[in-house]
Amino acid sequence: MKILGIETSCDETAAAVVKDGLRILSNQIASQVEIHARYGGIVPEVASRQHILAIIPIIEQAMTQAKATWSELDGIAVTIGPGLAGSLLVGVNVAKAIASAHGLPITGVNHLEGHIYANWLIGQNPELIPRFPSICLIVSGGHSDLVLMRGHGDYVLLGRTRDDAAGEAFDKAARILGLGYPGGPAIEQTARNGTASLKLPRAWLKGTNDFSFSGVKTALLRLVEEDKVSSRADAAASFQEAVVDVLVTKTVTVTKEHRVKQILLAGGVASNKLLRSRLVENSPIPVLVPEPILCTDNAAMIAACSYYHFQAGKIDSLDLDVIPSLKLA
Ligand SMILES: Nc1ncnc2c1ncn2[C@@H]1O[C@H](COP(=O)(O)OP(=O)(O)OP(=O)(O)O)[C@@H](O)[C@H]1O
Ligand SMILES: [Mg+2]
Repeated sequence: MKILGIETSCDETAAAVVKDGLRILSNQIASQVEIHARYGGIVPEVASRQHILAIIPIIEQAMTQAKATWSELDGIAVTIGPGLAGSLLVGVNVAKAIASAHGLPITGVNHLEGHIYANWLIGQNPELIPRFPSICLIVSGGHSDLVLMRGHGDYVLLGRTRDDAAGEAFDKAARILGLGYPGGPAIEQTARNGTASLKLPRAWLKGTNDFSFSGVKTALLRLVEEDKVSSRADAAASFQEAVVDVLVTKTVTVTKEHRVKQILLAGGVASNKLLRSRLVENSPIPVLVPEPILCTDNAAMIAACSYYHFQAGKIDSLDLDVIPSLKLA
């Protein structure tokens, strides 16, 4: 089964063709990062306009790279939320137009569920397919969720962030340190030349599986304001260490409370090398981590997820609409 996936929830215009929910035939991403970097963050109106400009060329590139014709496709998958309404609308309307023009079934996909399904993009080795039940740690620009996944499309939310998401915290810390946008990769790169020597607080929120990252960000801001940061590399390393420490400790704790087979890491922050290695080192069970390019926003993960929608007969009508505040569970 060949599916064209379309993703426009935030600042990446992306299209991909995926076979049987596992094998990437094409994966095209037009990033708007350079445009938004000028403003230090995403400007929603600018994002929707860029999606309009990029969407058709990106879909054509995805079809060409996959050497696919419209008649060879079996379905269209598109992100319906969560995300920016104006951005989501571009993808959903184009997807509906294609579905209507070519008589293809369409299914709307939750962007966060898509992030989880990046772990299914394993090519052709069936031994690597994730098994249920699993604990998913979704750490992205807008979310830090701990989720119990009992089967395809079957989620129980165990914990979430009470304030900043992990990726948002990296972005804000990078801004405080003058490292530019997006902050996650900038902090990671700068941290390579430093040591985690600054004392930064961890919010353990004992007795819950929730996260809070605003305190560590504010503590960093205070140190900078009080001129107590002599090395940006040490500050970046200390901040990264504090966030990773909490994410790994809480994920491992929740894993021990549930009889699960694996941990699935997902979302843009999952491309962070320290988080990946620390979780693997500390987890009592196998940890699956997508390739870095599949951790940040892409359409292959949307197509992969939709395969299980189509298998379950979850097909939408052309009334399909965006749901900007869509929840996973
Ligand atoms: N190497 C890294 N280390 C830490 N954070 C990273 C790294 N690479 C990317 N990030 C962070 O990941 C976030 C982007 O991830 P993603 O694209 O999944 O988020 P989003 O789509 O904006 O949010 P959501 O998926 O919640 O809607 C940014 O906040 C970015 O700073
Ligand atoms: Mg995302």
